[in-house]
Amino acid sequence: MRVQVAIIGSGPSGLLLGQLLGNAGIETVILDRSSKAHILSRVRAGVLEEGTVGLMEKAGVGRRMRAEGLPHDGFSLAFDGRDHRIDLFDLTGGKRVMVYGQTELTRDLIEQREADSRLTIYEAANVTPHDFDGAAPFVTYEKDGLTHRIDCDFIAGCDGFHGASRKAVPETAIRTFEKVYPFGWLGILAEVPPVSEELIYANHPRGFALCSMRSQTRSRYYIQAALDEKIEAWSDTRFWDELRRRLPAHHAEAMVTGPSFEKSIAPLRSFVAEPMRFGRLFLVGDAAHIVPPTGAKGLNLAASDVHYLFSGLMEHYQDRSNAGIDAYSARALARVWKAVRFSWWMTTMLHRFPEASDFDQKIQEAELDYLTHSCAAETVLAENYVGLPY
Ligand code: APR
Ligand code: PHB
Repeated sequence: MRVQVAIIGSGPSGLLLGQLLGNAGIETVILDRSSKAHILSRVRAGVLEEGTVGLMEKAGVGRRMRAEGLPHDGFSLAFDGRDHRIDLFDLTGGKRVMVYGQTELTRDLIEQREADSRLTIYEAANVTPHDFDGAAPFVTYEKDGLTHRIDCDFIAGCDGFHGASRKAVPETAIRTFEKVYPFGWLGILAEVPPVSEELIYANHPRGFALCSMRSQTRSRYYIQAALDEKIEAWSDTRFWDELRRRLPAHHAEAMVTGPSFEKSIAPLRSFVAEPMRFGRLFLVGDAAHIVPPTGAKGLNLAASDVHYLFSGLMEHYQDRSNAGIDAYSARALARVWKAVRFSWWMTTMLHRFPEASDFDQKIQEAELDYLTHSCAAETVLAENYVGLPY
């Protein structure tokens, strides 16, 4: 088989890139090691920047997101028993975010790809990029006991942090940067109305908590948890009790609780691989970088990578210029590092670090106090939260 762009990974990066390229008449195949059912069952974050919303619309898959997504003009920082609202809309001159689960976004993209009869090969084993240093790259994979080969012009490595694309690059050609945080997030989904119309990010002596949502009837809640916590030790009752203790009293009292239908613990990490292009192989999204979920930048960074790569590939195919492809890595990384910094800063400001000294604690309190008394500081938070321009 031969296509113009072989895409490894059917997560948001691969699907969005595939949709934009397909609409422009560029032939793609998507290869994923997982099943479609598994991909559609993954629960991840749910806050979209305007740029991400715009790309979904540009890809022609914005209809359900517009109808069912919840536009948010602000969020709350809760600490010291009170709430402080960050008015995103006012502080950024009219920008907002959209609450719409990554699971739904993935479903919309997969359904549209199927409706457009574009090929995705699920449960492809040992997917491997080859010869991307030369002019004739190809990808091999195994399925049903056979080895298959796909020749292509370019390979888009959209296969997440544990994927094969980054691993195919010689160690000497890549530099990585990493920070692992000394805690994780324990998250649940429950069919209960959200405690507040807007998200609440809470800093409490017992640890961070986040109140988020998927709809008017479905809530997503998280609490900071030690890395060695066992999920089995967290009954729903224990989770709700702990969450309520970390919130201001008026929220704790208003909280509607119920059985959870999803519960998981995720570690927090910042990671960047440089560069993001190796000849005819491009790394996109989680394959190149990971951010902690504080601030919900993971999916949005995947979207901005897709934007830069798509425009570079269009310049290549339509204008016969490689300028955009040559600039891809530098353009993407400039935006990636700013979101890495922002996610690290929000994580540092809102969590309780096990090894924090009294000095560290006072600095954290001063930071929150400054943030809630300075319009300049609030604007910095808001501008980054709604998403820096592409
Ligand atoms: N071969 C083929 N496919 C693979 C391989 C492999 N070796 N390894 C992983 N994959 C697939 C996974 O099954 C998954 O469907 O690649 C896809 C990667 O998707 P994501 O991990 O969702 O990454 P990405 O599309 O870049 O999306 C970034 O999603 O992971 C979240 O927090 C992240 O919100 C961010 C966004
Ligand atoms: C979520 O709804 O899952 C979510 C929202 C905001 C975050 C992280 C996760 O910062």
